Amino acid sequence: MKVPVPLQLEVKVVTTERAKHFYNAQEIPVTLYGDEEEWQLWKGRSDPVLHIELRRWADLMVVAPLDANTLAKVANGICDNLLTCVIRAWDLSKPLLFCPAMNTAMWEHPITARQVEQLKGFGYTEIPCVVKKLVCGDEEVHGVAISEKDPGVSRACGSHRGLKWSCGCDFCILPGFME
Ligand SMILES: Cc1cc2nc3c(=O)[nH]c(=O)nc-3n(C[C@H](O)[C@H](O)[C@H](O)COP(=O)(O)O)c2cc1C
Repeated sequence: MKVPVPLQLEVKVVTTERAKHFYNAQEIPVTLYGDEEEWQLWKGRSDPVLHIELRRWADLMVVAPLDANTLAKVANGICDNLLTCVIRAWDLSKPLLFCPAMNTAMWEHPITARQVEQLKGFGYTEIPCVVKKLVCGDEEVHGVAISEKDPGVSRACGSHRGLKWSCGCDFCILPGFME
C-alpha cells in the first residue's frame, strides 16, 4: 500500500478485523487502529472513547475500499466495530469520501445502488469504482479507483481542497490537517 501524504497532512488508518487478512500491518507507515485499540483505550468513565477521538481529530475521512458488508451497515446506521462507529459519529459538516469495491455479481445486486444513493443522501461523496482484477481473480470486478488520474478521484479531490491520495487495500484513512 502506498499513501503519499503531502507534508501538511497527518493520516491515521482504521481497519476492520476482516480487512487485516489483506495486508501486512508492518508495512503500514502510519498509525493503525482496529477494534482492539477501541476497547483497550476505554477502561472506565471519563476515559477517551477512540471512535469519538478520531471523528473529532480528523478533518476528512476516506473509506477505501468500502465493501458490500460495510456499505450495508453504514446505509442502515449499524455501528458494530471501530470503523462503522467513526462513520456513525462523523461530523456531517466534514467531507466523507467512499470508494465502493466488490465483485460484479455483488455490485449488480439491486440493493447496492440503493445503498450507495443512501450514503450520497447523507452528504458523503462517492468515488466511483473502476473495472479491474481483484483478489478473487475475476476480471469483471468493481474496484477502487486508486489514481488521481481516475475521473472519480480527480473530481472528488478537486472538490475537497486539492487532496490527493492513493491506496490499494481495505481501509479507511483519516487525514487530519496539521496545525
Ligand atoms: C478473498 C476475499 C476477498 C473479498 N473481497 C471483497 C470485495 O472486494 N468486496 C466486498 O464487498 N467483499 C469482499 N469480500 C467479502 C468480505 O470480506 C466480507 O463481506 C467481510 O465480512 C467484510 O467484513 P468488513 O466489512 O467488516 O471488512 C471478500 C472476501 C474474501 C474471502
